[in-house]
Amino acid sequence: VKPESVSLYPLGTAAAPEPELLCIFGTGDFGRSLGQRLLQTGYRGVYGSRSPHSCGPLPQGAQVMSHAAAAQLASLVFICIHRENYSFLETLAPHLTGKVLVDVSNNLKKDLYPEANAEYLQRLVPGAHVVKSFNTLSAWALQNGPSDANRQVYLCGNSPEAKQMVVEVATKLGFTVLDRGSLYAARELEDFPLQLFPEWRLPLRVAVGLSASFFFYVLIRDVIYEYVEQGKDTSFRIMVSLANKVFPIVSLIMLCLCYVPGLIAAFLQLYRGTKYKRFPDWLDRWMLCRKQLGLLALGFASLHVLYTLIIPIRYYVRYRLAAITISQIQKNQTDEFVTGMAWRTDSYYSMGILGFALYLVVGITSLPSVSNALSWREFSFIQSKLGYLTLFFCTFHTYLYGWNKFLNHSSYKWYTPPPYMLALVLPSVVLVFKLLVLLPCVDRRLTRIRQGWEKDGPH
Ligand code: HEM
Repeated sequence: VKPESVSLYPLGTAAAPEPELLCIFGTGDFGRSLGQRLLQTGYRGVYGSRSPHSCGPLPQGAQVMSHAAAAQLASLVFICIHRENYSFLETLAPHLTGKVLVDVSNNLKKDLYPEANAEYLQRLVPGAHVVKSFNTLSAWALQNGPSDANRQVYLCGNSPEAKQMVVEVATKLGFTVLDRGSLYAARELEDFPLQLFPEWRLPLRVAVGLSASFFFYVLIRDVIYEYVEQGKDTSFRIMVSLANKVFPIVSLIMLCLCYVPGLIAAFLQLYRGTKYKRFPDWLDRWMLCRKQLGLLALGFASLHVLYTLIIPIRYYVRYRLAAITISQIQKNQTDEFVTGMAWRTDSYYSMGILGFALYLVVGITSLPSVSNALSWREFSFIQSKLGYLTLFFCTFHTYLYGWNKFLNHSSYKWYTPPPYMLALVLPSVVLVFKLLVLLPCVDRRLTRIRQGWEKDGPH
């Protein structure tokens, strides 16, 4: 196929358009890193500075001049200055009329000022088009270029043309732009960098709450009970034995909590006979923090595995082993080999290992850099099918660990069941409900609902 038009100039001699010139006010870390990326991407850059002759090292190829002179040259100006120093821009307003000003600033605290920095800038320079953007990026992220974790740039502003100009620059720098609307959204954007792991907050609270509750429960049963009933000081057990009960129990319960909202959603859809009704807010919020719940649960399971590894080298365990051996020698008799016990320990170790291996697979694939490389079908297969298999192995591991202790009267100190029995309630309920959902008649109805069929609909 013949191309429709061919350049008559040999490669390289065609009159290349001059690269666009962009202006940066501020020669701090952020201004310098931004300038460097702009130059690397093919833009020309000019800095506006209060003291153009003594502003420290700037990226090679960038010019530096007074604010007024620099602003004159470009139609887009990045304001990389702290809000506290904005007031001088008011005097520059005549030079900035009609220009696009990109406000990249952040504050040290929320609600420090009555209006957002970008709105304040717009008030100081009413003739300019202020766009809030780039504030969620750090100088470091700019210098290193966009990576999976910081590819996104938010933006808001009142002028669609001004926003379009900023979108073009951000896209050329390799970022994905998310438009959050008018300048009214600037305050929200300025709050983003001040958030401290917001999506981890609820899962962390759940983890701390469960750990504290189970810790006290185990403390009462394993330390206080021994002291009160038998006068024995077993407080040393807090460090390893108690930790190695609390961590796996919390892990198992939190793993379940990843699957409970999906089950509630399924039963709600079955009950309502449609997928078009909104879920309650709490369910939405719960669904959104499943990844964090799962990763924390994996962290707790890893702690359990590490604590388990040191069991054979513990002084307490070695002492008890030696005491049993010596007592057998003294009595000149060997304890009988109990095949049932061998089956029990081998099976629960094996289930634990299989459960942990799958746990790792499910946890790793929930990380954005890995999940982005998977198709939806692969992702949901791992998260749902392998996730339930993980839950099954871990639950089975715990049942096998309990073995016949469920029926043993002495397990119930002060009429309290051992903590792992309590921990088994939720996983058992979740697995039974999952089995119910998998029943062909239920599964068929749920699939139809999820494909758009409605109980009271026209079909
Ligand atoms: C208990 C081994 C993985 C949940 C135990 C115990 C051992 C063990 C030796 C008894 C601890 C003791 O006597 O104090 C292992 C090994 C694993 C593994 C070798 C994998 C490499 C897991 C995983 C879970 C889990 C992934 C799921 C969250 C539990 C629970 C208990 C337990 C709930 C009962 C804790 C108690 O109340 O004493 N495991 N485990 N384990 N394990 Fe695991």
